[in-house]
Amino acid sequence: MNHLQLAHRLYKEHLSPEETAIDATCGNGHDTLFLASLLTSGKLYAYDIQEEGLLRTKKRLSTLPPSILSRITLMHASHEDFSFVPPPVSLIVYNLGYLPGSDKKIFTHSATTLASLKEALKISRYISITCYPHREGRKERQAILALLQERGGVTYKDYFISDKAPSVIFITSMLPASP
Ligand SMILES: C[S@@+](CC[C@H](N)C(=O)[O-])C[C@H]1O[C@@H](n2cnc3c(N)ncnc32)[C@H](O)[C@@H]1O
Repeated sequence: MNHLQLAHRLYKEHLSPEETAIDATCGNGHDTLFLASLLTSGKLYAYDIQEEGLLRTKKRLSTLPPSILSRITLMHASHEDFSFVPPPVSLIVYNLGYLPGSDKKIFTHSATTLASLKEALKISRYISITCYPHREGRKERQAILALLQERGGVTYKDYFISDKAPSVIFITSMLPASP
């Protein structure tokens, strides 16, 4: 099982069909499409700072029936601000890094990823973060783990194989998700 299959298995295990989820980095839309398949009556919000990411996601979702599409909101915005999303939120997923097949100069950064994660910890019961072993990705992973280690009220599992392979950090927050 690779890191993407692992992340999808974790989404499936922790999300019920009627709940709300956020894809914080929708990019090519693979995660958004998978989350949409799980949320048969729930709501889904997908963020990207690049219009290209939203266009690709929109295209990937285009075969979904209107009943599902009408419950998906695409947000051309940074994931530092989740105030648009009505609570409760069950799962927020991050797939960090750059948009494959696009401008590699635009990628997630530790400062904005941490700012977003702090907001995510306030509103979501589960958070999944896929990290990559390039230079900024390693910095992000270290910053995320340092934040989690100093925080109370969270547990997490770090699916780490080696510093040359992608990893998945799966967080459970004790705080939110009351209906
Ligand atoms: C690795 S790609 C995501 C892949 C995607 N989840 C998929 O399934 O195809 C990372 C994406 O994060 C986006 N991104 C970078 N910084 C962001 C931010 N602050 N807020 C939201 N999206 C951001 C990039 O534009 C890029 O499309």
